[in-house]
Amino acid sequence: MLLGILGSGSGSNMQAILDAIDAGTLDARIALVLSDNPDAFILERARGRGIETGVIDCGGFRTKFPDEAQAETAARLQAAGVELVCLAGFLRLVKRPLLEAYPGRILNIHPALLPAFPGLESWKQALDAGVSETGCTVHFVDEGMDTGPVILQERVPVLPGDTPESLHARIQVAEHRLYPAAITRVAMNLPHHHV
Ligand code: GRF
Repeated sequence: MLLGILGSGSGSNMQAILDAIDAGTLDARIALVLSDNPDAFILERARGRGIETGVIDCGGFRTKFPDEAQAETAARLQAAGVELVCLAGFLRLVKRPLLEAYPGRILNIHPALLPAFPGLESWKQALDAGVSETGCTVHFVDEGMDTGPVILQERVPVLPGDTPESLHARIQVAEHRLYPAAITRVAMNLPHHHV
């Protein structure tokens, strides 16, 4: 299974995917890593592993993912032979041009037990809401914000004295287990070419 990763930040989830591939628990290869942020550490990590990288030009828009940029992203993923697209800390909303190029083949990881706490900084939302448990979710991407069908979830406790940082760190440990497992589950159910 050839994977394409889209990320805006540190890329620890991409690292977890690479670690699972190295450990032989995930039968896949990362063909291409794209970021909307040329300075994102995810690109440096990928280059360090000899993985092809690229920058998505969003034309100066801060949060919008323009249609032309989505079409260009789809074309680059397809040119690299990508079969499954994994959003890993990608901060723009994917819409039709990219969804239509990869129907049912785009996954996202979200730091909450969806449908609870969609959107940004879900760990902060969970602390503010005073819940005793939150978690993380891998789901298929649709046109909504964090609304597509759930693939796997893992629960994470909120502990007394938690700060946004300590809670996010605990959720990330769970994310790093969950994402490779969810990719394996999806890959088993998708028709794909053997590499
Ligand atoms: C993760 O917490 C993920 O759930 C959220 O953004 C963060 C990305 O972290 N969508 P990283 O770039 O994978 O380290």
